[in-house]
Amino acid sequence: MSRKAYRGALLHLLGDPAVDGPEAAAVFDDGALVVEDGHVVEAAAWDAIAPHVAGTPVERVDGLIVPGFIDTHVHFPQLDIIAAPGARLLEWLSNYTFPAEERFAHRDVAQEAARFFLDQLLAHGTTTALVFSTVHKVAADALFEQALARNMRLVTGKVLMDRGAPPGLCDTPETGFVESRALIRQWHGKGRLGYAVTPRFALTSSPDQLEMAGRLLAENPGVHMHTHLSENHEELTAVRRVYPDCADYFAVYEKYGLATRHSVFAHCIHLSDGEWARFARAGSNVAFCPTSNLFLGSGLFDLGAAQKAHVHVGLGTDVGGGTSLSLLQTMNEAYKVCQLRRHAVDAFKLFYLATLGAARALGLDDRIGNFAAGKEADFIVLDANMSPLLKRRLAVAKTAAERLFAFAMLGDDRSVARTYVAGELAYRRC
Ligand code: GUN
Ligand code: ZN
Repeated sequence: MSRKAYRGALLHLLGDPAVDGPEAAAVFDDGALVVEDGHVVEAAAWDAIAPHVAGTPVERVDGLIVPGFIDTHVHFPQLDIIAAPGARLLEWLSNYTFPAEERFAHRDVAQEAARFFLDQLLAHGTTTALVFSTVHKVAADALFEQALARNMRLVTGKVLMDRGAPPGLCDTPETGFVESRALIRQWHGKGRLGYAVTPRFALTSSPDQLEMAGRLLAENPGVHMHTHLSENHEELTAVRRVYPDCADYFAVYEKYGLATRHSVFAHCIHLSDGEWARFARAGSNVAFCPTSNLFLGSGLFDLGAAQKAHVHVGLGTDVGGGTSLSLLQTMNEAYKVCQLRRHAVDAFKLFYLATLGAARALGLDDRIGNFAAGKEADFIVLDANMSPLLKRRLAVAKTAAERLFAFAMLGDDRSVARTYVAGELAYRRC
């Protein structure tokens, strides 16, 4: 039994501040998190915890303790093409993305990239992610292996794509099915890993392949589905052309049994009211990817519409279309997108979207997302001293909400002092 208490400022979300009000945020200037065998025992004000921790080692933390960030949509093979300029989605995919992903047919390339990617996630304070790999089974294997070695809660899968891409990136409905099934058997539920059936998007899968993806999902309850939806206008036009029998983009995924409560759709920028209503009825979930949506000029996600439809939303960095692995930077851009949409969000909502909201979108909120007793002890320490400007701004902030907002606007990976995975120190900045 390894019980330990971390004493410092602490924040976590007990609900959605937009739904449950400000009391959804639990904030303690002098708080503590008690961890035992990788799980949360309790999180509260130090005064309330002190009587329970006689004999327990207590570590003083100089910083803000928050739950580990959760990235609901990111591409591990795209780190090498982050910040590739001058293109919108379809051109960007052909010019930058597909050539980069072709290299992942080689085990060595995939292994090295998986190590770097996961170490970067931890350095950015991200302890859980829903990740796009490539079409190659070896790439998914490499990422699962490396995540298992770090004991991270990670969900990924082999990408399915049988058309609309170079031959080196195409599988077939049959090979896609057989390889996905083998990966599910090998990795799903092992350690803290989960599998996601991952058709890239409607334009790179034939009807046969989407049908096969639906069969995989139906045969493997509990497995996630992860894809892109309604990101860019040219994409929408092309989807109408290749799936003329479907009334709209979401109908393509509905038709093949891919719209479930275990489904996470990245972007969802241009959904109609009718699509939102069906999306909500299906219990499907959104990855809101503001840095990518701005960088690729895709559009402004309507968080208000998602909220009105009672759809779970988490933040996604969507690197390499996105421009940062930092969920703090992603909060920053999410705030600006919402400003342009005339939708008010406060700091608590921003942190919710990167923690409990994201956990709900992934259906993992019984295990991660906040410090409720019994949850897995994934947490980070944010340190204002890493950035002189942030330190200066925080010195004059009057409320917890103002301090948090400054972290969201001015913070990045420099603000992450330490990252703990299941109670163990996994990253230390200095
Ligand atoms: N749609 C299909 N593939 C991709 C991708 O790799 N990135 C983004 N942003 N959108 C996509
Ligand atoms: Zn993406």
